[in-house]
Amino acid sequence: AMKVPKDRTLDNTLILFKDGYEFIPKRVQNHHLDVYETRLLGQKVALLSGEKGAELFYDTKRMNRNGALPKRVLKTLFGENAIQTMDGEAHAHRKLLFMSLMTPEALENLRELTTTYWEQFAGKWQGMKKVVLYDETRELLCRTACDWAGVPLLEKEVPKRTEDLSKMIDGFSAVGPKHIESRRARKRSEKWIENLIIKVREGKLDLQEGTALYEMANHRDLKGKQLDARMAAIELLNVIRPLVAISKFLTFGAVALEDFPHTKPQVAGDDDYLFHFTQEVRRYYPFVPYLGACVNHDFTWQQYSFKKDQLVLIDVYGTNHDPRIWEDPDTFKPERFQDWEGGLFDLIPQGGGDYYKGHRCPGEWPTLEVLQASFQFMARHLQYKVPKQDYSYSLRKMPSLPKSGFIMKEVTMR
Ligand code: HEM
Repeated sequence: AMKVPKDRTLDNTLILFKDGYEFIPKRVQNHHLDVYETRLLGQKVALLSGEKGAELFYDTKRMNRNGALPKRVLKTLFGENAIQTMDGEAHAHRKLLFMSLMTPEALENLRELTTTYWEQFAGKWQGMKKVVLYDETRELLCRTACDWAGVPLLEKEVPKRTEDLSKMIDGFSAVGPKHIESRRARKRSEKWIENLIIKVREGKLDLQEGTALYEMANHRDLKGKQLDARMAAIELLNVIRPLVAISKFLTFGAVALEDFPHTKPQVAGDDDYLFHFTQEVRRYYPFVPYLGACVNHDFTWQQYSFKKDQLVLIDVYGTNHDPRIWEDPDTFKPERFQDWEGGLFDLIPQGGGDYYKGHRCPGEWPTLEVLQASFQFMARHLQYKVPKQDYSYSLRKMPSLPKSGFIMKEVTMR
């Protein structure tokens, strides 16, 4: 049988950090394949890329998540024992809880809230000498997220909460003091939300049904038991934290409006184009590099022998740039989405497959709402100068971001 190629070096952990977003595509796609073997931290790891690779990765008969996530990621980014680590029926039940928050009314409400906060913030920016969009939108989104989730936020705690949520997002990839700060940020945030969950259960907070705080506080597991208050807090943070993380796509989108100025009038005036632009921002720019899963039992796929408990990575960035799926993948072209058929395994910036059966991000619709409201506001109502700065971004550094955070000057509203 044909041999699947593999890295000959003993360990590629350092090279993985050096190659960043291009580590997997450089290996898998350059061999015109869907699978490739490397060694990371002394283990044989299977790298998957492309539509077929993604389909295998999301086959829950062959892959599971239990144990696929390193402790350092759970102690910062995700929280321990949360939905990301669950499998089977327990996962499906927990997933329904998240999906139940995404009604058309709730999504419409999120879009309106986002626009309202943009109006507020743009008003404030008019008096500012310089505006760093990434910093400002993190706070804008922290306020939007808490408002949407039913989480009360005192004016004086806004900066601290915003900072802690950001630290949780970025700290998992850091080492040393930054990683420790990230763990502390998670502990503080969990405590904050846990207290709110307890208050809701004691009837001390007046809340609307359907908000994330209400639903997390009242959810019952498959045995009919309420979630432990800390667990409910962790899952509520799984809603608020990623809403703040949308600031990354937002900042990349501002770069797109600047680097491809022909898109701006169309983003302002045409709702279909606005949607296609938003999809292209999610496809084109580097955010999530790859995701991990574990093999359930031995099996062979495309001549490669997967072994029980082996770690498998799906190439998220590379699949979004796979030339077998996307024509001129490295060109920013919103029009490509005019005749996109909406495959489950081709556009995977927030994971692929089925929402209910697998781990695909339940926040994909909220992300699209927030981004569309934001890009529409920017293109229609915001006038600004973009002073000389370095807003380039690196494919080597994970997570990536425009270096300057996107600086604007002389902001006015029209
Ligand atoms: C899962 C990305 C926004 C909630 C995921 C996954 C990715 C992702 C890659 C993992 C998919 C997998 O493991 O197969 C993103 C990105 C976002 C975003 C890039 C934009 C900034 C959101 C939002 C929410 C959210 C706004 C909530 C409102 C979740 C949850 C999971 C998840 C709860 C775990 C789902 C599961 O394990 O079944 N997201 N997400 N995300 N996301 Fe998002």
